[in-house]
Amino acid sequence: MRIDIITVLPELLKSPFEASILKRAIEKGLVEIHMHNLRDYTDKSYNQVDDYQFGGGAGMVLMIEPIDKCISALKNEREYDEIIYMTPDGKTLNQKMANSLSLIENMIILCGHYKGVDQRVRDAYVTKEISVGDYVLSGGELAAAILCDSVIRLIPGVLSNETSALTDTFQDNLLAPPVYTRPSEYKGLKVPDILLSGNFPKIEEWRENKAYERTKALRPDLLEKK
Ligand code: ADE
Repeated sequence: MRIDIITVLPELLKSPFEASILKRAIEKGLVEIHMHNLRDYTDKSYNQVDDYQFGGGAGMVLMIEPIDKCISALKNEREYDEIIYMTPDGKTLNQKMANSLSLIENMIILCGHYKGVDQRVRDAYVTKEISVGDYVLSGGELAAAILCDSVIRLIPGVLSNETSALTDTFQDNLLAPPVYTRPSEYKGLKVPDILLSGNFPKIEEWRENKAYERTKALRPDLLEKK
């Protein structure tokens, strides 16, 4: 998979790809991340990429020209399956969307800033608009990092134990069951006996029940989707 990220703040997006699972996915050659600073695509003085809104109103808007230049340069090199715009008014990211995006070859992620991008960019270029939740961030960069993390960990070969992504919370619209590790007792707090029993069919049944109970208690809306 190749991900091209268009941003005015590439420095905000460095560290998520420099540690742990995402770093290893890049090192293994399973994903390539290419950062593009929008300011490299403007001819205006002071590398200007934003301007006031037509019709008045507070807040600057990212201009269409540098975005068009950047996207056109990328599209000249290869085909893209999706051009995604990160915005609070997009469709809320969920596991199902991450699963389907993990199967595609090339995507562009455009990070909004200030009041967002000129609507013509959204109309003419963007194929998907994604939000990471009903709250407003200062820009799309942290949202793009969340999207990339949720997608990249699902690419086959990224997680060493492939089944661990399949048993994640939200796969199958269920929360994950509780997990425990050593020691089996700590200051009187005990691990449930069943997990120490070695009876794997029973353990599986216990996990399924716990996942269901937890979902019913904390996220009953997910059970309606099942
Ligand atoms: N940009 C600002 N807020 C955002 C959000 N909640 N999701 C995606 N992009 C954003």
